[in-house]
Amino acid sequence: SSVDVPGGRRVLLAEPRGYCAGVDRAVETVERALEKHGAPVYVRKQIVHNRHVVDTLTERGVVFVDETDEVPEGAILVFSAHGVSPAVRDSADQRKLHTIDATCPLVTKVHQEAKRFARGDYDILLIGHDGHEEVEGTAGEAPEHVQLVSGPEAVDSVTVRDEDKVIWVSQTTLSVDETMETVRKLRERFPKLQDPPSDDICYATQNRQVAVKEMAPRCDLVIVVGSRNSSNSVRLVEVALQAGAKSAHLVDYAREVDPSWLEGVTTVGVTSGASVPEVLVRGVLDLLDEHGFGDVESVRTAQESLVFSLPRELRPSRVLKV
Ligand code: F3S
Repeated sequence: SSVDVPGGRRVLLAEPRGYCAGVDRAVETVERALEKHGAPVYVRKQIVHNRHVVDTLTERGVVFVDETDEVPEGAILVFSAHGVSPAVRDSADQRKLHTIDATCPLVTKVHQEAKRFARGDYDILLIGHDGHEEVEGTAGEAPEHVQLVSGPEAVDSVTVRDEDKVIWVSQTTLSVDETMETVRKLRERFPKLQDPPSDDICYATQNRQVAVKEMAPRCDLVIVVGSRNSSNSVRLVEVALQAGAKSAHLVDYAREVDPSWLEGVTTVGVTSGASVPEVLVRGVLDLLDEHGFGDVESVRTAQESLVFSLPRELRPSRVLKV
């Protein structure tokens, strides 16, 4: 199938891909804060995990910091899409910072679940990647009740106080299949393990993985546009390989595509993580076109229309469009 016929070369383009509603809202939040208050606007951590987005906003006067104590008293501070723990909110209040919360509402939903089950004195098993900002924020809602389970191989070391009161929740950007495997193993150990009230892995993560699964078996190569620290982007590479792509690579920019990847390749699949602006995908498509991959066919598995309203502090006073 990998006969090198220039005429047979084509690109499959996954849909949906790229920006989700939470990222769109978070980036617009920072842009509006800049317009309204002028530079500098401070943002705790990367607003979304994408190098291009962070570099572009930095050029426009955004200052990204790791912690609230790096922000001058009284300044504007935006919390990133990944959410923050109550301890971070408290420290921002103590410094009298004017905070704007760009936490994705679907991350906030998981925080609410953690709080609610902590009030019920459950052991909460949070499936997620150690050190990821979202996990730190969610666990910080109920540090006494939450324990992190980083994957199927971590299940054996989990201990709980009362096997009748155990619930799992998760990071929003995990591999659906791997998470189900972790849950299956957890349930083997704790048969009364409860499921969260609704899916924690968000619609955007799920939709992008479904589209890649559909596309990958037909691909000699899959290029995922996204940054190394973007959980959902990295998962797309893994899902592509598991679904049968012969090879798969993650790139921030078109210039990172190594021409040797294209040798002997007939079909290239392209997708992008939820934090990736479409202009970066265009760059990759242009580069592929230069290498004879001008024929682009889309592989659509879902239609997305979700839009989140901006944080209250930034909502325009005019009537919202319908
Ligand atoms: Fe929110 Fe999911 Fe995007 S949690 S920020 S909609 S990847």
